[in-house]
Amino acid sequence: MTHQFTALTEAQKKELHETAMRIVSPGKGILAADESVGSMAKRLAQVGVENTEENRRQFRQILFNADDRIISCIGGVIFFHETLYQHSDGGVSFVKMIRDRGILVGIKVDKGVVPLAGTCGETTTQGLDGLSERCAQYKKDGASFAKWRCVMKIGDANPSKLAISENANVLARCASICQQQGMVPIIEPELLPDGEHDLKRCQYITEKVLTAVYQAMSDHHVYLEGTLLKPNMVTPGHGCSKKYSPEDVAMATLTALRRTVPPAVAGVAFLSGGQSEEEASVHLNAINNCPLAKPWTLTFSFGRALQASALRAWRGHKENEKAATEQFIRRAEVNSLACRGKYKGADNYADSAHGVYGSCYSY
Ligand code: 13P
Repeated sequence: MTHQFTALTEAQKKELHETAMRIVSPGKGILAADESVGSMAKRLAQVGVENTEENRRQFRQILFNADDRIISCIGGVIFFHETLYQHSDGGVSFVKMIRDRGILVGIKVDKGVVPLAGTCGETTTQGLDGLSERCAQYKKDGASFAKWRCVMKIGDANPSKLAISENANVLARCASICQQQGMVPIIEPELLPDGEHDLKRCQYITEKVLTAVYQAMSDHHVYLEGTLLKPNMVTPGHGCSKKYSPEDVAMATLTALRRTVPPAVAGVAFLSGGQSEEEASVHLNAINNCPLAKPWTLTFSFGRALQASALRAWRGHKENEKAATEQFIRRAEVNSLACRGKYKGADNYADSAHGVYGSCYSY
C-alpha cells in the first residue's frame, strides 16, 4: 500500500493556497508575458521589430506601464528569466513595478520542449535538473508562482500513451518541486489546435490528458489546493470545417474539466492557444455562463490574446507606446468581464484577420 510521508507543513500549505487564490481572485486573471527569446523573435518579426534585448524590454515595459486600471483585472504576471531582471526606463525593476500594484509575479521555469524519440513528432518538456535551486532563487527575487508548459498534438494516433504519461509525470514532478520551494505551480498541459479534428475529439483527448495529469499529481503527493491549472479550451482543430458556437465550446470545455479536474484545484486559467483576442474573450465569457456547476474560478492566463493588439499598435515606435499600453488595458478589462460572464462582446468575434494562430506554436 502506498504511504504519504509529510511533504509540506500546514504553514506551507496555507501560504500556497492563499497565493493561488489571490492570483485568481474574482475578476482577475494572468498576463502570460513569458515568451522565450525565440518566441519573442516571432512576435516582433510580425510587426517588423528586431529581436534585441532592448526591444524585448521596451515591449514588456509597454505592458507593465499600464496604470491602476489593471489592478482589478490582473492577479499575476508570468515573466521570462530575462524579464525578471530588467528595469524600466526610469530604473525601476519590472518585478517591483508589478508587485507594487499588488499583482503577483510568476516565472516560466521549464526549458522548452524536446522530441520523444520514436514517436510521430511528439515532445516532452525539459528543465527538471536544478529546478529546485532555480525556484529558491526566483522566490528570493520576488516570484511566487511558476509555470511549466507541456505540449501535445491531436492526430489519428496522437497523443500517444507515452506522450500522455511522460508529460503528465513531468508536470506533476515540477509541481512537487515548486511546492517544496513555496512556489505555486501553474501546470499547463496544452493540446495544440493544429489539425482537422472536431470539437468532440478535442474534448475526448482533453479528458484523457487531464485524467493522466491528476493521477500523476496524486502519485507525486501534490497539494492540489496550492496549484493552478492552465488548460486549453476545448475547441475544434484549425482545419475542421464544422463551425461551433461559443456555447458549444463552453459546454465541451466545462464537461471535460468537470470529468477530470478535482474541485480542490485552486483555479483554472485558460491559455488562449492562437485564438484571436476577441474569440478567446467570447469563449471565456461563454464558459462562465455555461449552465453547469463550476467548482473552480475559470479565468484567463493569456499570452497572445492579451498582447496582440498592443503589439500591432506599437510596431517599435516610441510615439505609439501610450496607445499600445491602452490596447493592453482594454484586453485586460474585457477579460476581467469575461471571467465573470459579464462581457457583452464586440462585433468582430472570430475576426480571423487578426487571428494569432501559428501552427505547432512553441513558447
Ligand atoms: P497563449 O495564450 O498565447 O496561448 O499563451 C499562453 C502561454 O503562456 C503559453 O505557455
